[in-house]
Order: sequence, then C-alpha cells, then structure tokens
Amino acid sequence: MRLLTMCCFLFVLLALTPRVLTVDPGVKAVLTDKGLHYASHVGAAFLQENMNKVNIPDIEGDISIGLLGSVHYRLTGMTVVQVNLPEPTVSFLESTGVKVGMDGVNIALQGKWHTHYTFINDGGTFNLAVLNIGMSAVLQLGSDEHGQLNMTNSQCDSSIGGTQINFHGGASWLFQLFVNSFKGFITEEIQKRICPMIKQSVETLENGLADIPVSFRVTQNLLVDIPLLVSPIVQSSDMELDFKGEFYSVNHHTEPPFSAGPFELPQPAGFMLAVGLSEFSINSAFYAYFSAGLLKVNITDNMIPKFSPIRLNTTSFGIFIPQLPKMFPNLLMLLQLYTTNTPMTSLRSDNVTLSVSGSSKAYCIQPNNTLTPLFRLDMNISFSSKLFISEEKLKGLVVLNNFTLTLGSSEIGPFQTGSLRDALLKGIKMFLLPKVNAKLNTGIPVPVTKNIQLVNSVLKVNEGFMEIATDAVISPPEPRN
Ligand SMILES: *[C@@H]1O[C@H](CO)[C@@H](O)[C@H](O)[C@H]1NC(C)=O
Ligand SMILES: *[C@@H]1O[C@H](CO)[C@@H](O)[C@H](O)[C@H]1NC(C)=O
Ligand SMILES: *[C@@H]1O[C@H](CO)[C@@H](O)[C@H](O)[C@H]1NC(C)=O
Ligand SMILES: *[C@@H]1O[C@H](CO)[C@@H](O)[C@H](O)[C@H]1NC(C)=O
Ligand SMILES: *[C@@H]1O[C@H](CO)[C@@H](O)[C@H](O)[C@H]1NC(C)=O
Ligand SMILES: *[C@@H]1O[C@H](CO)[C@@H](O)[C@H](O)[C@H]1NC(C)=O
Ligand SMILES: *[C@@H]1O[C@H](CO)[C@@H](O)[C@H](O)[C@H]1NC(C)=O
Repeated sequence: MRLLTMCCFLFVLLALTPRVLTVDPGVKAVLTDKGLHYASHVGAAFLQENMNKVNIPDIEGDISIGLLGSVHYRLTGMTVVQVNLPEPTVSFLESTGVKVGMDGVNIALQGKWHTHYTFINDGGTFNLAVLNIGMSAVLQLGSDEHGQLNMTNSQCDSSIGGTQINFHGGASWLFQLFVNSFKGFITEEIQKRICPMIKQSVETLENGLADIPVSFRVTQNLLVDIPLLVSPIVQSSDMELDFKGEFYSVNHHTEPPFSAGPFELPQPAGFMLAVGLSEFSINSAFYAYFSAGLLKVNITDNMIPKFSPIRLNTTSFGIFIPQLPKMFPNLLMLLQLYTTNTPMTSLRSDNVTLSVSGSSKAYCIQPNNTLTPLFRLDMNISFSSKLFISEEKLKGLVVLNNFTLTLGSSEIGPFQTGSLRDALLKGIKMFLLPKVNAKLNTGIPVPVTKNIQLVNSVLKVNEGFMEIATDAVISPPEPRN
C-alpha cells in the first residue's frame, strides 16, 4: 500500500516537474531581478504618463436620507487630473510568476454629479481625491498549448486610505452635508473597482501576448519556430524561458538529422537579461538552407575579381591541368559549387568553428553554349572565429583552419590537385577572408526592435551555445489616441 502511494506520489511529482522535456530547447532567455525592476519602472512611468487617458467607469447608487427616502446619484465623466504613482515593488514568485505591489498612490479626479430625488433632478461638478491607494497582485505565468506565454491575475488585494470630495454647483451645499455618509460609499465603490481593473488590464496584456506569433519569417527563405516548450521557470531571483528555437525552410518543413542537446544558461550576474543560442539552433538554419537546395552557386569568369591572374577559362587552368587547354582550347568555364552536407557550426569556449563539405563541378562552355563536364573536386573546409560584441555590434576575426581538396571524378583523365589547392587557398586567404573580416571589423549591428534597444551587451561563446548577456533600454510604445 505504502509502495503504491509512493509510486503515485513520484508519478505526480514527475508530471509536475517542468524540467522534464521531450525536446531540448534551442534558445533560452533569462530575465533577472534587475531586468524585472527595470521593466516595472518603465511600466510605472508609462502608466503615470497615461493615467489621464484611463477610462473611469461611472459610479451610481442610492443614498438613504432617512425618512425622506433615498436619493439616486450618478458620478460621470470622471477624469484623472493628477496622479502620483510611487515606484512599484516587483518580485519573482517562485514557480508562479511575478508579484506586483504599489502603495501610497494618490489620485485627484474630477467629474460631474447628477442626482435624482422624486421629481427633482440636480447636478454639478465635483473634485475627488483618493488617497493612499494600495494594491498588490500576482501575475501567474504559463504557456498554452501553442507555446505562447500566457498570464492570469491569480490574486489581488486593494485598499484605500481615504477620500476627499467637494461638490460644486446645483444644490451641492446640500450634498456636501451628506458627504460623510457618502464618502464611505464612494470609497467602497472605488475600492471594489481596483482589482477588476487590474484583472482587465492583465487580460488586455494577455490578449496582446496571444498575438505574438510563435513562428515567423526571418528571411525570404527561413522561418523560425519559437514556441515555449514549458511554462516559464520562475525562481526567486530570475525567470527562464525555454524556446524551441528551430529554423525551417519556408518551403520544406523537414527535421534535421540532428537534435538539440541540453545546455544550462548561467544567471547573467549584473545584467537584465541573457539569451542563449544553441549550436542546434544555428545548425537548424544551415540545414534549412541546405535541404531547400539553396546552398549552391554558379561561378563564372565575370565573378572572379579583376585583379586575379587566374581566369575561369581552359587556357588559364592549363597551369593546373596541363591536358585541359589541349582538349578544350580557350573556352570559358563554369563552376557549380554546392555543399554536399549541412554546414555545421560547433561552439566551444571562445571558438566558433564552421565546417563545410562541398563539391565543385567544372564545365567548359562550348561556343554553342552547351556545357561539357570536365571534373569534380570535393572539398572540406573549416573556419574558426572569435566573436564578440562591442558597441552593440557583432565583431570578430575569422581564420582558416583546414582546407582539403581531392579529385572526386574526372572526364578528362587524372591530374594532380596540389597546385590547384594552393591557388584556391590563396584566393580564400587573399580575397574571401579579408572581405569577411572587414565586415566583422566594422561590426554587424545586433538586432533591435523599435521599442527595445540593447546596451552593454556581452557575447560569450561556451560549450554548445553562445550567450548574450545584456541590459536593455525600453522606449514605451506611443500611446494610442
Ligand atoms: C495558459 O494556458 C493553458 C492552456 O490553455 C492553461 O491551462 C493555463 O491555465 C494558462 N495559464 C495561465 C497562467 O494563464
Ligand atoms: C547553374 O547552372 C546550371 C547550368 O546552367 C543550371 O542548371 C543551374 O540552375 C544553375 N544554378 C544556379 C544556382 O544558378
Ligand atoms: C583566358 O584567360 C587568359 C588569362 O589567363 C586570357 O588571356 C584569355 O583571353 C582568356 N580567354 C578567354 C576565352 O576568356
Ligand atoms: C577552434 O576549434 C577548432 C575545432 O574545434 C580547432 O581546430 C581550432 O584550432 C580552434 N581554434 C582556436 C583558436 O582555439
Ligand atoms: C555544341 O557543340 C559541341 C562541341 O562542338 C557538340 O558536341 C554538341 O553536339 C553541340 N550541341 C548542340 C546542341 O549543338
Ligand atoms: C570531407 O569530410 C568527410 C567527412 O568528414 C570525409 O568523408 C571526406 O573524405 C572528406 N573529404 C575531403 C576531400 O577531405
Ligand atoms: C584537417 O583535415 C585533415 C584531413 O581531413 C585532418 O586529418 C586534420 O586533422 C584536420 N586538421 C584540423 C586542424 O582540423
């Protein structure tokens, strides 16, 4: 019996443990306490700016005036005149989400009052100060069946220190007499509305989250799937989001022959957030290109830089293949260059390596434009680079690690590939690498969105993944008018 209970308990525990994944995430993001505080600070500032646009629902009710019955009143057209929002308190709530609290909020409102007593209608304006409002709410975070981040307001408390109200116009002098009994009503009515308003705002936010796509196009040929694989993993000082982070070709939604491995994204001490990008994620993009047949290029003589002494024609290639100009005198050539496998990146401590296997099929172009096959060269090439971020730009230096070349097949008989390899090596070192390195020396700007800019970013390449730890500057969205 005890064993059975124990088994059940274990089973429940396993079912509840969020880290049990069937697929390892390709991309992870960690939001720290610092990031949470900054985000809430921006949020509060945005709220402060936009409080005057908040729609305040009308309040109405009846006040008893003793034996004389009751007066029906309505407070309408309430607008915020002034508001003072103190810095909110925010914290992560382990395994749940985020707790937000605010104390000592004061709001000054103005509006119109209307009363109806028997057949007498009266009205005027009023000023209302609501003092020392306190509220605290828990935002529970999760992910839905599509892998979208979702949130609900699971707990809410509110309190009001007091209200001051002044009526103007009409028989307001009479009204003012009832203010004390009235105040209680108003205070209660307002307090009753705080949590529903918070709930409503969270729902609005939640609807916004539901609109964020979990799959989108990044280039003409590439899309990325980034659903959450599990609910956010909230700990006392940070929150981790685990995304699938897999790239696919727009036209061929096929899985690569490799899969994501586990990696641990360290807490980015001192930064607001960190993003971890796995080797898998990068390689899935290469696979997408490769499987869609996009890693192919035709090279013709006019693409060879002017300064190159070697031209893409059978005369020029006579230096490497003596029989070629004899068999096909003075014809232009075409090289079909293609990868024979998915180019693979491997990330090691401070070292990004890219290995490419490819072939190059050579043709000569006959005067009638038919292509006559000549030979095929098989190549393996590997580059290594140190990558870093400086001034919010991705920079680095790429070096050639290794380059091998063999003759795969030949329609013109065998030939030695040594001098051809040396010439290609020279081309890579004198033409390709300087071009790439010039680009990496200038730097590639790290992607930013209209509202979020990354600052103080640091890139670190670790075993199996690269980590970008960063602070952010958020410019709140332009308020909708
Ligand atoms: C998120 O969505 C899932 C599936 O619809 C639901 O079970 C869960 O309660 C939601 N969680 C939150 C925090 O809204
Ligand atoms: C390369 O040239 C061949 C022969 O002309 C052609 O069939 C092929 O489509 C071209 N490939 C690319 C990527 O341009
Ligand atoms: C081939 O290249 C050589 C230089 O190596 C040049 O003199 C010759 O004109 C070129 N022939 C053709 C057909 O382009
Ligand atoms: C980087 O890694 C590759 C392969 O893992 C290795 O060949 C190369 O020497 C390394 N480069 C540096 C600078 O450590
Ligand atoms: C083009 O020229 C080559 C070489 O002269 C010849 O073998 C081939 O049959 C010709 N092709 C056509 C379509 O005329
Ligand atoms: C390239 O690498 C593959 C796999 O590592 C190997 O089978 C092949 O022989 C290599 N080719 C050359 C030209 O080095
Ligand atoms: C370069 O490639 C050759 C042949 O594939 C291999 O034997 C050698 O280990 C490679 N060197 C490095 C540094 O990767």
